[in-house]
Amino acid sequence: MEPVVRVAPSILAADFTCLADEIRRAEAGGADLLHLDVMDGAFVPNISFGPLVVEAVRRVTRLPLDVHLMIEEPVRYVEAFAGAGARWLTVHVEACADVAGTLEEIRVQGLRPGLALRPGTPFAEVEPFLDALDLLLVMTVEPGFGGQSYMEDQEPKLARARQLRESAGHSYRIEVDGGIGRTTAPGAVAAGAEFLVAGSALFTDPDLPGFVSTLQKLAGSPSADPEQGSSAP
Ligand code: DX5
Ligand code: ZN
Repeated sequence: MEPVVRVAPSILAADFTCLADEIRRAEAGGADLLHLDVMDGAFVPNISFGPLVVEAVRRVTRLPLDVHLMIEEPVRYVEAFAGAGARWLTVHVEACADVAGTLEEIRVQGLRPGLALRPGTPFAEVEPFLDALDLLLVMTVEPGFGGQSYMEDQEPKLARARQLRESAGHSYRIEVDGGIGRTTAPGAVAAGAEFLVAGSALFTDPDLPGFVSTLQKLAGSPSADPEQGSSAP
């Protein structure tokens, strides 16, 4: 599977008083997909937004929506997020009683299943599910808040994800989330990351389009179709 690099702004760091403008700014700046962080105040110690906001975002952008569920038992809400217009739907391995069943439900609803793991979770926890994934999300901060420092010690998970994909013929994309910016993205991409989530560094950068293209160029090739090469229809 050919590696790609795509940039996914996390709207958690956008100005919510003018969210539509912020999303248009990210889209006009060359973003490939939009990352939406859903938090329930139980799986993580923060509350963000739910399907209602995802559905509103859907109406102001053509970018694919990459929804990251940081909620307990996310299987309960798969249908709601499908209805809200998500394209990629990622759940945490630590949050599901039945991981395989949850991933299957995501696919049944016509979405691309993703699986995330917290920094403290060993890679072995996600290994049994790699075949069922379109996306593997490696957290490089403790989930719950934007603006935290990148945890370089998670890079071996990115490398392991890339290595297993090549050796076992899996077809997931590798996403990194947390503390990604101009200085940390090169290490993440070198380790194996392809979808780069960026919140605070992207939205506070004085040159958002420059930020996006700098990250995209880490692949050595221009950004094209964000769906390119993904396994699901
Ligand atoms: C954290 C979220 C991240 C967050 C990233 O729980 O999953 O997507 O928005 O924000 P930055 O890029 O500021 O670390
Ligand atoms: Zn996220």
